[in-house]
Amino acid sequence: MGAGTVVRDRVRKDLSEISNKTTRPIVSASPEIRSNSRKKIQRRSKKAVTSPVQKLFETCKKVFANGKSGAVPSQEHINMLRAVLDEIKAEDVDVSSKMPCFRSKSNGRPPVTYLHIYKCHSFSMGIFCLPPSGVIPLHNHPEMTVFSKLLFGTMHIKSYDWVADSPQPSSDTRLAKAKVDSDFTAPCDTSILYPADGGNMHCFTAKTACAVLDVLGPPYSDPAGRHCTYYFDHPFSSFSVDGVEVGEEEKHKYEWLKEREEEPEDLTVTAMMYSGPIIKE
Ligand SMILES: [Fe+2]
Repeated sequence: MGAGTVVRDRVRKDLSEISNKTTRPIVSASPEIRSNSRKKIQRRSKKAVTSPVQKLFETCKKVFANGKSGAVPSQEHINMLRAVLDEIKAEDVDVSSKMPCFRSKSNGRPPVTYLHIYKCHSFSMGIFCLPPSGVIPLHNHPEMTVFSKLLFGTMHIKSYDWVADSPQPSSDTRLAKAKVDSDFTAPCDTSILYPADGGNMHCFTAKTACAVLDVLGPPYSDPAGRHCTYYFDHPFSSFSVDGVEVGEEEKHKYEWLKEREEEPEDLTVTAMMYSGPIIKE
């Protein structure tokens, strides 16, 4: 879908909304009253353009201005973006559990829908929509900082970080330690992962229909070497590797993550443009 098509559709939608609301009779007014009214309208329309999603966009521009692989925003910028995301609601991005993309299927794993909001070289914004029992399999976010805001629903998140400098059983298999393994129900705090900690590899499983607003900085980019890799997870006891020892009571926290050669067969992601407020660059 080209950007031009989307813009035309959006304009048509906005015009129809305005025409629906124009129900009051038009009366003539003096030039002074007309001028004052015009100023009021201008003030109102200035306020109207600062939608929560516009505020999010402006904040991302500041926070991810660096745009380089592995660049982690300052703590001040992280707090700023988290505060903006904490305030965002599903209705601010025109997402509702009544949308067809949240309906479960009678058989097989239900498809996931990605609503694309914005992408540039330094960050991307989008919403993953999962029907009940929908899964986004275990995958990584190389050299990225990622903010995830659960807009509604209950989701199980399991995440891992690599164990640095650990011997490997093979070049495609590395030791990782679980960071998070819990259910989250909206409203809840925005979660943040970093290039080397915070749970850089994660898997989402929808317990109910749920929507997650994801902000990635910088975004996935094959030319820049930031590929999305999927993994199989194997219990710690699956491999015996010289030099790798973990206490008995800690073993359940460690797993071997093996790169998948291909994208998971049962993962279907349908990409669509989101239909919320337009972002002005
Ligand atoms: Fe992810």
